[in-house]
Amino acid sequence: MLSCSYLLSRLHGDLCDMFTLRITLLITVLVPLNYDLCFCRCAHAEYEIDGQCCPMCAPGNRVVWHCTDDTSTTCVPCLELTYIDEPSGFTKCFTCTVCDANRGIRVIKACTRSSDTVCGPLERFYCIKKKKISCIFAVQHSECRPGQYIKQAGTGSTDTVCADCTAETYSNGSFSSCLPHTKCDAMGLTETNPGTQSSDSECGNPPTASTAIAISVIVPLLIIILISVFTIVHIRKKKHSKHSGKLYSNFF
Ligand SMILES: *[C@@H]1O[C@H](CO)[C@@H](O)[C@H](O)[C@H]1NC(C)=O
Repeated sequence: MLSCSYLLSRLHGDLCDMFTLRITLLITVLVPLNYDLCFCRCAHAEYEIDGQCCPMCAPGNRVVWHCTDDTSTTCVPCLELTYIDEPSGFTKCFTCTVCDANRGIRVIKACTRSSDTVCGPLERFYCIKKKKISCIFAVQHSECRPGQYIKQAGTGSTDTVCADCTAETYSNGSFSSCLPHTKCDAMGLTETNPGTQSSDSECGNPPTASTAIAISVIVPLLIIILISVFTIVHIRKKKHSKHSGKLYSNFF
């Protein structure tokens, strides 16, 4: 820190070397500035009260009694859930910040007597509004749509980055990369459903050799059985009608 007397002596020394015009300029510009700087009547770790300089209380403490001519400042620690984070002459401690889940935040670092609570985004949220190192508002990460993959996962300060799948690949929106469609041909299968950007292709079994054999045996067999049954029934009916006379034969 530059003390007041140091600044004044600097200014005075400079003035001696200057031309009249520059002196006038310096006085009009610098003197009000220096007057401001030197208005501090108390030392660095002191505060001013009723024209008197009192020693400050340490962080985590507040003033109960200001100093007098023969006593120093009396300080007491802040109560629970209150704090003061710098040396001060404050007579009240500040209330600790609450991390509200409705604002998408949670406690990262609990409040102490000498430091306020530090809030951070909830899991799968990212911070969109900060105050110093603490987050005061966070929103949920975006989800990628089907047909997109997660190009970059969301963090505490950035949203998810999605990108579209290219041809012949797919993702349901939760993959970290697009997967190539299954090649049914290469697996000796037939494609029953072509793939899309959000779904894999579907493969089915082509008719195998055994099914082909089964079909070629069962079908002729069924035909033979049917023909046999018809023939037998027909023969029986003919015999029956011969034995039971003309009445029935009119029917058949
Ligand atoms: C995507 O697929 C994975 C694994 O196949 C599954 O766990 C997940 O629930 C699916 N996501 C969606 C959004 O359908």
